[in-house]
Amino acid sequence: MKGIILAGGLGTRLNPLTKITNKHLLPIYDKPMIYYPIQTLVNAGIKDIMVVTGGNYAGDFLRLLGNGREFGLSHIHYAYQEGEGGIAEALSLAAWFAEGEKICVVLGDNIIEKNIIKAVKDFEMQKNGAKILLKEVPDPERFGVAEITNGKLRSIEEKPKAPKSNLAVIGIYLYDDRVFDFIKGIKPSDRGELEITDVNNAYLKDGTMTWETLNGWWTDAGTFESLLRASILVSQTGANNIS
Ligand code: DAU
Repeated sequence: MKGIILAGGLGTRLNPLTKITNKHLLPIYDKPMIYYPIQTLVNAGIKDIMVVTGGNYAGDFLRLLGNGREFGLSHIHYAYQEGEGGIAEALSLAAWFAEGEKICVVLGDNIIEKNIIKAVKDFEMQKNGAKILLKEVPDPERFGVAEITNGKLRSIEEKPKAPKSNLAVIGIYLYDDRVFDFIKGIKPSDRGELEITDVNNAYLKDGTMTWETLNGWWTDAGTFESLLRASILVSQTGANNIS
């Protein structure tokens, strides 16, 4: 399985912190934000990794990460997203890299306490389709929200005003190689982005979407509140714990 980290976008919600650097290079406690999603993939045994980034400071990723030696990697692939066309658009830039293999996609501002080893193993066994990871949150209206009844995934809504549950779809997605065809079939949303939730709903319609809940805490870090929370959580328990 290959790993793809999406670290594009302009991070405007964090202005002025993101005026002179990329959001994913900001510190979360004692490391740059981008370190955490890389470690998430490496801990799950995924060592063939592409980082998709963009904006004015893309070169700084190369200076910071190089070939990924700090993570035990021998190389890291990079791609450049022009503009901010959405998470699914950023993912489409990795089509040539995936080369027909299954992929694990991690959003560059998503940090977890533990690991995704079980989910990745389960998805390796899954014949085809996709898998999402869910986590109960107090503020589901900020995220993609899953509706589950009788253990069955019924719908996924992006930032609903009236969420049908408190189960956020976290920014770690497992896909088969058809994901790039599904992306070609979706249209920009009202906010002008190709939404990952539309891709996930395409798999749901296809009947090949599975889900698991994540153990341990999860947070994004794209707002001032969540950026601070991420640092506090990491300082208290550490992140990317293997056990
Ligand atoms: O954090 C999980 C949530 O992430 C999901 O629950 C939502 O369904 C999903 O849409 C997303 O929501 P956000 O609105 O919080 O995503 P955001 O725009 O903050 O982007 C998250 C990361 O995705 C960002 O750190 C870098 C990457 N990204 C985003 C955009 C818009 C790109 O690489 N390119 C982009 O154009």
